[in-house]
Amino acid sequence: MDTPIEKKKVMLSGIKPTGDLTLGSYLGAVKNWVERADLYDNYYFMADLHALTTRNNPADLRRRTLEQLAQYVACGLDPQKNVLFIQSHVPAHAELGWILNCYTMFGELSRMTQFKDKSAKNADNINGGLFTYPALMAADILLYQPDYVPVGEDQKQHVELTRDVANRFNNLYGETFRMPEPFIPKVGARVMDLLDPHSKMSKSDEVGNGRVCLMDDPADIMRKFKRAVTDCDCTCCIRYAPEEKPGVANLMSIYAAVTGKSFAEIEAEFEGKGYGAFKPAVGEAVVETLRPIREEAQRIMKDKGYLEALCREGAERASYVAEKTLRKVRKKVGLVAK
Ligand code: TRP
Repeated sequence: MDTPIEKKKVMLSGIKPTGDLTLGSYLGAVKNWVERADLYDNYYFMADLHALTTRNNPADLRRRTLEQLAQYVACGLDPQKNVLFIQSHVPAHAELGWILNCYTMFGELSRMTQFKDKSAKNADNINGGLFTYPALMAADILLYQPDYVPVGEDQKQHVELTRDVANRFNNLYGETFRMPEPFIPKVGARVMDLLDPHSKMSKSDEVGNGRVCLMDDPADIMRKFKRAVTDCDCTCCIRYAPEEKPGVANLMSIYAAVTGKSFAEIEAEFEGKGYGAFKPAVGEAVVETLRPIREEAQRIMKDKGYLEALCREGAERASYVAEKTLRKVRKKVGLVAK
């Protein structure tokens, strides 16, 4: 029997091309996105315009943007099932960003905690883009009329502002934008830093021995796992006790996520063996999980033709949807039709 065709809900997220993707981003997020591909219409873009709010080396920014895209594809994010693109390749973002700037209040932008944090940290470069960035983010979102925007805690305030701006616009000009909802994604494994199991393994620019990157070579991965902190109790046993033994619990979560084994199975596997056997076993399992991802990302980076086609096709599919919204907006605010 035919099942009724239901329009899938639309989901959109932007990722700033800063820093390398880590094992934490893969196990905690990207793996779930791969599974989401069939359930929603997904848009993911590399937010290179947002990256300009802080100073970058131009060659680095260009390389990182492409590497990030290649890494997402290598993680299994299928470019046929998901619309993957580079933000600056779809000029509608910048254009709607400007328009929405004119519907976003100075007071609202001043209240954004991320602006306050970032301007405190970069006191020598508090530029206009840093201040008005939430209006660009609102444009990023509203162009695609998404139902859901999966974001972390730190971005919730920006999605709230997006809703306020959309509401203001809809009240002035009639229904134009769908009201997006923040979506708190199902988190996969919460992966902590290998040297500091109390803080998250974060994507950041610094090279850290507590952070495993998707592109790390096997010898580096093994070295990082062998040095991972474990917890000194006299037994050195492998037991899941996040409060007492956060280091071991973190390694167990990683091992469970990459092998599919349960904590009980892991405890049984390492019964009577100490950290000296456990740490390299986790390292090896991670090496094998990341090997195909690293190799595929490297292959994509070398295949300029494929990479260009990927960018072009993503931008075309995104532009089609974005332009539709932008045409409506242009008309409503009184810009002369092109
Ligand atoms: N601001 C987000 C961040 O810093 C990135 C981002 C830009 C984004 N545009 C977006 C996220 C639109 C979701 C939707 O992480």
